[in-house]
Amino acid sequence: MRVTVFNGSPRGRTSNSHKIAKALLEGARDAGAETEEVFLIEKNIEYCRGCLACWGKTPGKCIINDDMTELIDQYLESDYVGLATPVYGMFMTPVLKNFTDRFLPLATPHIRKNKDGTFYHDGRVKRFPRQFFISNCGFPGEHNFDLLKAYISQQGFVLEVYRNCGEALDQADDNDPETNRNIVEFFNALREAGHEMVKNGKVSDETVEKIHIKIMSDEDYMAGANKFWDEEISKHKSEDPES
Ligand SMILES: Cc1cc2nc3c(=O)[nH]c(=O)nc-3n(C[C@H](O)[C@H](O)[C@H](O)COP(=O)(O)O)c2cc1C
Repeated sequence: MRVTVFNGSPRGRTSNSHKIAKALLEGARDAGAETEEVFLIEKNIEYCRGCLACWGKTPGKCIINDDMTELIDQYLESDYVGLATPVYGMFMTPVLKNFTDRFLPLATPHIRKNKDGTFYHDGRVKRFPRQFFISNCGFPGEHNFDLLKAYISQQGFVLEVYRNCGEALDQADDNDPETNRNIVEFFNALREAGHEMVKNGKVSDETVEKIHIKIMSDEDYMAGANKFWDEEISKHKSEDPES
């Protein structure tokens, strides 16, 4: 069993998306899976040109010669694929969006109609991996994920992780043991989710609930973030001889 996460954060290896993906993949590995996280920001991925050659002239094949050829192989060879992105402007990063646009060669051109009146393209390959989704955002609150949820929920993902207060994930604070406990519980729940996904093919409602635990009050998160930025700005001011 192979589990791959494609991480679409521009921060790559230092991202909060990575912290989340890492815990989930640890759980998957414990359950016997081979795992890998691909940092898309490190890859050479051009924009889709919209030429549609992959549908007509060279069916199933993109005319651009870049890292997507090997990444699509890696995607298809996986049993489970995770797509990870921070919220940027209420949606996914351009890094992940660009990556997903380049999957057009895996769709056939003809338009089909669903019973509910929506439309789709058939896939070109027989077997697609099952998918899960990881997102985190910088604001408190659930509404930051509304657009992503609307987009993702149509696609039958095995697991959806929506982590608000994302910038608090590595802020151990001895004065705030409750938040620390919640963060530890969040990462434990992610490990459990990775384990369950590989072992059972699904993640229990109980684990999903634990993943979406409120880690701190909105006010405490705001106060911590605003204090950080006050200190950061004054640090740079004092370094600047002109100011
Ligand atoms: C260009 C940009 C746009 C952002 N837009 C939002 C947003 O719409 N809502 C939000 O809650 N956070 C937003 N954020 C904050 C990030 O989602 C947040 O910092 C996140 O924890 C980064 O995750 P990462 O470390 O995985 O990249 C934005 C950040 C950047 C740089």
